[in-house]
Amino acid sequence: MGLPRLLTDTAYATYETQLEKEVLEGEIPQHIAIIMDGNRRYAREVLNTEPMEGHKLGKEKLDEVVHWCLDLKIHHLTVYAFSTENFNRDPSEVDYIMELLEQALYEFGDDTEVHDNKVSIKVIGDRDLLPENVLKAAEYAEEKTKDYTNFTFNVAIAYGGRQDITNALRSIAQKVVDGEIDIDDINEEMISSCISTSETPDPDLILRTSGEIRISNFLLWQMAYSELYFTDVYWPGFRYIDLLRAIRTYQQRTRRYGV
Ligand code: FPP
Repeated sequence: MGLPRLLTDTAYATYETQLEKEVLEGEIPQHIAIIMDGNRRYAREVLNTEPMEGHKLGKEKLDEVVHWCLDLKIHHLTVYAFSTENFNRDPSEVDYIMELLEQALYEFGDDTEVHDNKVSIKVIGDRDLLPENVLKAAEYAEEKTKDYTNFTFNVAIAYGGRQDITNALRSIAQKVVDGEIDIDDINEEMISSCISTSETPDPDLILRTSGEIRISNFLLWQMAYSELYFTDVYWPGFRYIDLLRAIRTYQQRTRRYGV
């Protein structure tokens, strides 16, 4: 390693330690939701390689981020792994991502830290759209962690926020039709209790990588009061320091606007 690189790495490590200390002194968000974006651009622009490599690195990054969140005692993490719109991509890309998702779910289901920390894994989204192998992997991870209540990890696959709200409204309408409830009984709490993340508090912080400033149909109901944080870093290039910066921004904003 050359001297300039050594100096940069040392400065970076010092900054990271300082930032971590600062962040740990503040209020840690209970629930972080992440839109993991920029896999293909990272592969093309940063590594000068083919886009699928970006997805592979994206999967590895997710594993790292889950462990950072556990270490920081962020109790709920929700990630947008695949939207309903993503099915419109080239079939070979969809197949490849599905393969990665299958692997990831089995790996999370067997992860020692997931079990040590009692993380409950849940796949949210339209299961009817999932290939059989991904559905099986989802059921495997969920079954192995179903008794845990310490942390939750929601993986959104074939997910859309409008679809989530529509499903909640359908189940409520059915209760009205069945005479279980009155129309006047419908309120926000009831809708929240019928939404896919009903066992998780609404996200305190929603973070999106890759410089896009959009929510893209993610957690539309749940994000009513979430702080939004956008960073230019592509998902595979996301570092611990970027997570710390997002949390520090959250802390600065809640200190300013909180009651
Ligand atoms: C976003 O980058 C990635 C996706 C829409 C697909 C899948 C997500 C991952 C591979 C992240 C890790 C998750 C697992 C477990 C597989 P993009 O393809 O939209 O990239 P671009 O914005 O640069 O085109």
